[in-house]
Amino acid sequence: MSTFTGKTVLVTGAGSGIGRATAIRLIHEGARVIATDLVPDRLDELETELLGKSITTVAGDVSDDDTVQALVEACGGTLDGLANVAGIMDSFLPLGEVDDTTWERVLRINLTAPMRVTRAVLPMLLASGHGSVVNVASEAAFRGSAAGAAYTASKHAIAGLTRSTAFMYGPQGLRVNAVAPGATMTNMAADVRSDLGAGRVFPLMAAIAIVPAEAAAIAASIVWLLSEEASNVNGVILPSDGGWSVV
Ligand SMILES: NC(=O)c1ccc[n+]([C@@H]2O[C@H](COP(=O)([O-])OP(=O)(O)OC[C@H]3O[C@@H](n4cnc5c(N)ncnc54)[C@H](O)[C@@H]3O)[C@@H](O)[C@H]2O)c1
Repeated sequence: MSTFTGKTVLVTGAGSGIGRATAIRLIHEGARVIATDLVPDRLDELETELLGKSITTVAGDVSDDDTVQALVEACGGTLDGLANVAGIMDSFLPLGEVDDTTWERVLRINLTAPMRVTRAVLPMLLASGHGSVVNVASEAAFRGSAAGAAYTASKHAIAGLTRSTAFMYGPQGLRVNAVAPGATMTNMAADVRSDLGAGRVFPLMAAIAIVPAEAAAIAASIVWLLSEEASNVNGVILPSDGGWSVV
């Protein structure tokens, strides 16, 4: 029996990078996976790679109510784990330069969407008696020097949401943790729209000389927190960052 045999896990942002690596690892560990992403072609590719395995894909914007409803239906009444991985960057825009559209989009996708997805599947996770949620934070959840204002605020907030939900539902058997990746090789857009942002952030990143991780290394931390191996771990923000958080 593999670790996740008989378990259903929902993964957002499963079309690329950390979410994709998480979905693949869960499948190999025996889970039935509900994989969702904004980009249908990425999900088609994932399904092809995992042909014959227990994967259901749902294409759509995870911050849309229709997608959330489709995800609930795809679960078919049972869910053991949720990995809220989908997220976007903010072009390193400091507060004085961030436009409302960027601010609202980053907060909607990085913070509001995980809250809504978790809220929608909460009854199923509680009913399982051992539900586990893993949110994806960032080094930007610990410091002000890793991204722009919107991304930094969204990742600090997802850490708070993680702790609040862990505290509230822990006594009912639900665990809620977050993984905070450092630099990771994925398709995440790293466009820069601010000279101030780049001038402040990039010299520090160069100075700490962290080697970017493979997405699979972050997926390993996410899958561990989802598993029963982490049954005594609730409410942590786990850095998976090659040591960046101790700099
Ligand atoms: N790559 C890094 O260095 C790094 C570092 C720290 C944290 N993170 C976090 O890791 C998570 C995953 O990012 P990644 O690096 O794998 O990036 P990625 O771009 O490779 O993958 C993110 C996936 O999420 C999907 N997505 C984006 N917006 C969506 C939406 N509205 N609805 C549904 N799907 C959507 C994208 O289509 C993409 O397939 C994010 O939350 C990100 O903030 C990444």
